[in-house]
Amino acid sequence: MVSLREGNTPLYDLPQCSRRTGIRRLYAKHQGANPTGSFKDTGMTVAATFAREAGYQWVACASTGNTSASMAAYAARGGMRSLVMVPEGKISWSKLSQALDYGALTCQLRTDFDGCLRLLQELVKRAPVYQLNSINPFRLEGQKTLALELLEQLDWQAPDHIIVPGGNLGNSSAIGKALLEMHEAGLIGRLPKLSVIQAEGANALFRTLREADGKRLISVHAETRATAIRIGNPASWQKAVKVLRATGGTCEEVSETEIAQAKAEIGAEGIGCEPASAVTLAGLKKLIQQGFVQADETVVLVLTGNLLKDPDFTMEFHRGDLLPEQTRDGGALNAYRHPPVVLDASLDAVLHVLDQAEKKDR
Ligand code: F0G
Repeated sequence: MVSLREGNTPLYDLPQCSRRTGIRRLYAKHQGANPTGSFKDTGMTVAATFAREAGYQWVACASTGNTSASMAAYAARGGMRSLVMVPEGKISWSKLSQALDYGALTCQLRTDFDGCLRLLQELVKRAPVYQLNSINPFRLEGQKTLALELLEQLDWQAPDHIIVPGGNLGNSSAIGKALLEMHEAGLIGRLPKLSVIQAEGANALFRTLREADGKRLISVHAETRATAIRIGNPASWQKAVKVLRATGGTCEEVSETEIAQAKAEIGAEGIGCEPASAVTLAGLKKLIQQGFVQADETVVLVLTGNLLKDPDFTMEFHRGDLLPEQTRDGGALNAYRHPPVVLDASLDAVLHVLDQAEKKDR
């Protein structure tokens, strides 16, 4: 088995977000606590194990960063080579640096994620590489682990809602499959509603459900600072439509401002996450407004990646130059900004800013 001791990630309560949203039983399942810092690892252990067993020397993926980091690590552990194809300039340095350190042959292609994935489909026909994108069935089987762990952590009492970010839609499909199977096996008495949240700029599933009743994919030209979910042509859209319908869940979209604010709110809980994960809290707020989520229900947000996955986003947010809104009217966003303070190395200077911070809190 190719393993880095993935899984068994923590389930946190979120007291401040609970108070603010009015949802008393609000939890976060933090997949960012996995060995390479994202939810990809529980799928990758299964798929890499299979690849090695099948005798492949090369594994390959197209990625917005986390899949490539995870694949490169598991390939290295399993004694395989890895080929990574990522959109040039559109993934975070942290994720790219992971692939480099784990020894991947890393290609930054002048295209977007969807272009990288298209090229990979061509490549696997021509070269003896095993493709480890989320259409790989073993990855989806492994990603079911999240749902099994979650239910065990909740003592097999199904929550009312599970909310996940949606990009290529592999994760939502895997979680949905796990829920349906657990229900069928009698491990849980009722099905949680599984809902998917997308960035407004990468809202293919949202539009597919609203404008085409889930019957044909409406792909989009994706643009969002939550680069992990900057995907316009999601491969697993049909599976996602199926599990949303089967569990009674829904799909929402959230703006860049809402993502930035939600990310800072999760950070203020002392746990943090990457921007793509924060869409879950931003989406929850909308689902409460719409009456889809009620105050007395149990809600689990799936945080897919670690805060350290995208430090540029976090630094720009706190410095105030992430979004045009921050300079126009920083209002709600400013309350969560904690820019670094540059000072002379004097005791008086530090005491002064400490005093100012105290006054601001009061
Ligand atoms: N959150 C994070 C942090 C991700 O990295 C991804 C996907 C998603 C959410 C969306 O999950 O694609 O299963 O719907 N990242 C992929 C990658 C695409 O290449 O790392 P999804």
